[in-house]
Amino acid sequence: MTRATTIFRTLILFFVFHLATIGSISAQTVWLDELDLSTATQGYGVPQKNKSCDGKTLTIAGETFERGFGSHSESLLTILLEGKATLFTAKVGIDDEVKGQRPAAEFIVNGDGKQLWSSGIMHLGDAAKPCSVKLDGVKKLELLVTDGGNGNYYDHVDWVDAKFETTGVTTFKTFNPVSSEIYILTPKPAATPRLTGAKVFGVRPGSPFQFLVTATGDRPMTFSAKGLPKGLKIDEKTGLITGTISSKGTYKVTLVAKNAKGKAERQFRIECGDQIALTPPMGWNSWNCFAQEVSADRVKRAANAMVSSGLINHGWTYINIDDFWENHRDSKDQSLRGKFRDENGYIIPNSRFVDMKALADYVHGLGLKIGLYSSPGPWTCGGCAGSFGYEKQDAESYAQWGFDYLKYDWCSYGNVINGLPENDPYKVSSLSYNGGSQLETAQKPFILMGDLLKKQKRDILFSVCQYGMSDVWKWGGSVGGNCWRTTNDITDTWASVKGIALDHEKSAPYAKPGNWNDPDMLVVGHVGWGNTHPSKLKPDEQYLHISLWSLFAAPLLIGCDMEKLDDFTLNLLTNDEVIDVNQDPLGKQATCQHTIGEMRIYVKELEDGSKAVGFCNFGLEKIQMNYTDFAKLGLNGKFTVRDLWRQKDVAKVNATNGELAIEVPVHGALLYKFSPAK
Ligand code: GAL
Repeated sequence: MTRATTIFRTLILFFVFHLATIGSISAQTVWLDELDLSTATQGYGVPQKNKSCDGKTLTIAGETFERGFGSHSESLLTILLEGKATLFTAKVGIDDEVKGQRPAAEFIVNGDGKQLWSSGIMHLGDAAKPCSVKLDGVKKLELLVTDGGNGNYYDHVDWVDAKFETTGVTTFKTFNPVSSEIYILTPKPAATPRLTGAKVFGVRPGSPFQFLVTATGDRPMTFSAKGLPKGLKIDEKTGLITGTISSKGTYKVTLVAKNAKGKAERQFRIECGDQIALTPPMGWNSWNCFAQEVSADRVKRAANAMVSSGLINHGWTYINIDDFWENHRDSKDQSLRGKFRDENGYIIPNSRFVDMKALADYVHGLGLKIGLYSSPGPWTCGGCAGSFGYEKQDAESYAQWGFDYLKYDWCSYGNVINGLPENDPYKVSSLSYNGGSQLETAQKPFILMGDLLKKQKRDILFSVCQYGMSDVWKWGGSVGGNCWRTTNDITDTWASVKGIALDHEKSAPYAKPGNWNDPDMLVVGHVGWGNTHPSKLKPDEQYLHISLWSLFAAPLLIGCDMEKLDDFTLNLLTNDEVIDVNQDPLGKQATCQHTIGEMRIYVKELEDGSKAVGFCNFGLEKIQMNYTDFAKLGLNGKFTVRDLWRQKDVAKVNATNGELAIEVPVHGALLYKFSPAK
């Protein structure tokens, strides 16, 4: 090669290289998977880069893709484009990994608050749908996937081959509009005594009575009760009231708590009659943290933690064992294998629960109560022995062991209705909704167990669990239920909490003392169904969750590992003014009375004539406004407004012409009490 040729070639290479660079400055491609996807929120699992929700190859209707974002509806990824992108292109669809299920989802692209594109509702098997959106000038882009109108079960959703054409930038920032800031609102309790917990308690005549008088304040503390009916006594040191009442009636009692700093008094009503659970049950349940890993030792430790954390002083009472105390039909875990029942049909707990009576005695000895779980079908949801055919023996066992609470979970009962072989472990699947939508079959197993529980010589709170089939709220009380689940299982995601909250409205008129609608257990603290992690709900979402469950008069069952309670979680669970809303003796469930954009305002009537009001922000923009529409909330006259989380009066308002300045964080809530001004 001559020297001239070499120079010529070098020059050509130089120009080609520079042209390429110049070209890329004026128009570049930025792939979605090059951005930080971890800020996305989604209904289940974690955001996946170049993988499906379950971590597999992205596959839509048989076509595989190397690049993309695998998620689960409700899913939201917010990207700051700052006007530097011209075009977004992708293909969207539901991942084949959920074969056999019926997912439906809608993919939406929003730019600066406006919808720019939607896929329409997509189903499993639909070919990947191309999406092309012009972006000139868009600053904030949202890639959103909603549930397609049938709940978000199995909505594994993929954005594949997704990329931006840009003008001279190499990457974009993503962010989560929901704040991660942890802040504590509940004030520390005063040193002086303050009585807490339920103000009314129901018992049946002749049943063993157990009620713990609870209070905050310095210890040592002594307790007394004036006007206790015949048959009851109070332990001065612990505050535990025990005994039996033989005749029906209303008994008005004055509770007193004293310590070195002072004394507190409060009225307490005992209703001896047919109804128990006159306020929503409060306690802990093993499912959301331990699931199939539960054991007697873990249950004891949870009970100990209920005491040592001080939660017991705020009215938290039940320690409930969920599924997996029974033997399992085919588990590889030998600790779950063994004979299901003895020769008389009485259930034999698995080897992790050698002595149920001793466990119940232990929990009672701490001043707490204990619960357990079964299914009306042959198998529980987890595949352990259910009660079908042995309901009488089971009710007797629960009473004889000294249990106070039964959660009775539909599961394989649907197979009984199907006429499938009831006891063949391999032919009976665990979860079947079959029969749940015909009133007669839906009610039958609960009537049976409800009647049997009432025949026992102790009060056993009956928690009906069948996920809301046949509008259970309309008849749950008539089959002996004290509470009933209104929806499917909760998870620690915003989509789950929001979905359940919105769905809960329909059951509101049916809540009353002794009969509670149950939107499922709490997902604060360390949860994880056998593999715990800190709740994925953001702090503001957790405030909203607890505020709403209190407004709903929902059973409050802590679902977290009680040995990992942190200060933030304790702050959520020990605010007595918030708990008082939940435990209010009137027993009303809040309803949404006014909606402004994505803010829903819930109102709950309270026994003392005041109203608890929750300003709940379901949207992605912070709300700041002067609120004036008090008439919509049923508020007339002058009010003192108290912020219950901060336990502080914040304003005096004239509902006729006044206004109230409110500020509600994204996915957060304000919980206020409006009391008529004196
Ligand atoms: C589900 C129920 C859960 C849990 C689980 C146990 O059906 O909704 O709360 O009890 O069964 O297997």
